[in-house]
Amino acid sequence: MKRVLLIIGGGIAAYKCLDLIRRLAERGIAVRCVMTKAAQEFITPLAVGAVSNERVATELFDLEGEREIGHIRLAREADLVVVAPATADLLARMAQGYANDLATAVLLATRAPVLAAPAMNPAMWTHRATKRNVRQLEADGVQFIGPNAGEMAEKGEAGVGRMAEVAELVTRIEALLTADGKEGGFGFLNVSTARSARPASSPLPLAGRHVLVTSGPTHEPIDPVRYIANRSSGKQGHALAVAARRLGARVTLISGPVQLPDPEGVEVRHVETAREMLEAVEAALPADVAVFAAAVADWRVAMPGAGKIKKAAGAAPPALVLVENPDILRTIAKRGARRPALVIGFAAETQDVVAYATAKRKAKGIDWIVANDVSEKSGVFGGDRNRVHLITADEVEDWPDMDKAEVADALLRRAGDYLAQSRESV
Ligand code: CTP
Repeated sequence: MKRVLLIIGGGIAAYKCLDLIRRLAERGIAVRCVMTKAAQEFITPLAVGAVSNERVATELFDLEGEREIGHIRLAREADLVVVAPATADLLARMAQGYANDLATAVLLATRAPVLAAPAMNPAMWTHRATKRNVRQLEADGVQFIGPNAGEMAEKGEAGVGRMAEVAELVTRIEALLTADGKEGGFGFLNVSTARSARPASSPLPLAGRHVLVTSGPTHEPIDPVRYIANRSSGKQGHALAVAARRLGARVTLISGPVQLPDPEGVEVRHVETAREMLEAVEAALPADVAVFAAAVADWRVAMPGAGKIKKAAGAAPPALVLVENPDILRTIAKRGARRPALVIGFAAETQDVVAYATAKRKAKGIDWIVANDVSEKSGVFGGDRNRVHLITADEVEDWPDMDKAEVADALLRRAGDYLAQSRESV
């Protein structure tokens, strides 16, 4: 029987843990719980003990508890440690290696993989300090699930900060328990060894990685009501974000205006223009992989009208003066510091697809380029299918006609293998 040690932090989402424990128990997974002091303000150890059928551990220096089952044993007997809700405070203490209560002492002592499900106010989640702590923990091998976008417990507040749903947590926990037990460990485990030893067929090849994806078109204003745009639906970019999430990555999706819902469990930044997209991409770095699937407008109007441009009787139509937009992909691919280890571009072509894309790969300094035919006959724009060629420094692969979701999955699995190999060769 697999054993999960669930560390319940002090947030309103703590109540979801009762359901989580039940769902895991239904699947034959034993759950033992540790509650922080703050967690006990939200749910009682009595309730948690009743659903988990185990004594709940709350104190580091609990004489009776230490005799029964101390923090080292708690840490050792788990196949997986889950921290939910992982509050900003708990993440900060984990990142620093504190051991000033039972929860952090166990986290420091465990050799099991650790999965954290953050939950906090969106302002706290986006604060630099929290971002820094998350980066540190990712580097230490801690895996993350969520937070999701949505309504907050505080009335009228919305944003990214909701804890992942119980169903998502159960799926991820099951995947981790069936994967190589040492994957992405924390504490004493040498993470780089664990990563390079990970088999290519690992169900979560992007665990512990940060994947950044751009998606959709950009809108370049002509005046406050009109804009220049293109036919990109965002389907391929959003499918990439979903696939990266499923493969275990923390994902930041930077999307232009699209008619698609925000993918679950993905941090989404909505932008309108190319310049806003570049700014959001820069702010989301560092990342292990960056996939540029957005159809960025090459040009913008030099001087958009401050008010709606009126048509005057008899006057000639206004002449639009265009200036070039920044090339986001080129900017990121050519940067020295904080360049993602793997930069992937898309090339939308209507003729000589492979030749143009190969040249584009070199010119922009991209590692891989995914070339596709977007001529009208291909039905790619707005459609669900895609036929692509993957062009790397060494080869051109012609992929069969696939669903955009399949293209996304195949591409990101390849990315996972690439990162694992490049780590091995270091
Ligand atoms: N791209 C970008 N920023 C831009 C233009 C393009 O990040 N300002 C990215 C796209 O997301 C895509 C790749 O560059 O991954 C190729 O875009 P594409 O429009 O095909 O290439 P261009 O360089 O604009 O060349 P052309 O339009 O002449 O084919």
